[in-house]
Amino acid sequence: MGYQFLSVRRDGAVEHVTLNRPDVRNAFNEQVIAELSAWAGAAAADEGLRVVVLAGAGKVFSAGADAEWMARMAGYSQQENVDDAGRAAAMFRAINGLPCAVIGRVHGAALGGGAGLAAVCDIVVSTDTALFGFTETKLGILPAMISPFVLPKIGMSAARELFLTGMRFGAHRAREIGLVHAVVTDELLDETVQRYVDEVLSAAPSAVAAAKGLLPHVWGRKPEDVADLTAGAIAAQRVSPEGQEGLRAFLEKRKPGWTA
Ligand code: COA
Repeated sequence: MGYQFLSVRRDGAVEHVTLNRPDVRNAFNEQVIAELSAWAGAAAADEGLRVVVLAGAGKVFSAGADAEWMARMAGYSQQENVDDAGRAAAMFRAINGLPCAVIGRVHGAALGGGAGLAAVCDIVVSTDTALFGFTETKLGILPAMISPFVLPKIGMSAARELFLTGMRFGAHRAREIGLVHAVVTDELLDETVQRYVDEVLSAAPSAVAAAKGLLPHVWGRKPEDVADLTAGAIAAQRVSPEGQEGLRAFLEKRKPGWTA
């Protein structure tokens, strides 16, 4: 499929998706949201896809929602505004729910919805100079649609501080609060992303998808309430072809088949 504001490059089981609207720092409007949603729909159905690397073209990862698009919404009805916001929320949900691993490659800035995009990634690698911020309140709006994805990453305390102030913060703080997993120099950004790609590729595809799928069902629940769910998950996986292959390969001191 052809996109106006996304570049998509496939490399085996890895897809590199780059926001490509550098003139406005990869701010997203309704077209970017439609394209990301369409891409995520296709990616979810793609059984050969194991890792996505999400990046931004030009100077920054993403400056979040397009302020012009937001401002234009004053001319629309409440219902049109709700529908429009709902499409953005669905986009974040679609990326968040992808069964493969999603790695964010952040440089420059990830602000507002751009920080939200980082939050729907499983792993985020950031340059040490990148700026983060839930800056919406500084613009008179609020980080609403991204909040269900940001909260599990950074927790209530940091969210209260950072949503209410809209302040910008650095990559090291982003790592401290759980939004980012590795902070590196510009020169090491791609190498570090690749290391994570390789780590995921050396894990069993079905185990990765099952582990990712399990987490939202376990999060915030009591151990006794998820005992059946977690027992069922491991019971299914250990007798599965990949479970058997992984365990045998370990015992036979060889590499499992999925790494070939
Ligand atoms: N929506 C629409 N346009 C945006 C934008 C956004 N969120 N962020 C940047 N742009 C536009 C600027 O208006 C500017 O347009 P112009 O060339 O017509 O003047 C262009 O992108 C370049 O922006 P500029 O600020 O000059 O780039 P920079 O590299 O110096 O700084 C940022 C990059 C991301 C740090 C800075 O643009 C910024 O802080 N943007 C706002 C981010 C934000 O608060 N987002 C939350 C939105 S809810």
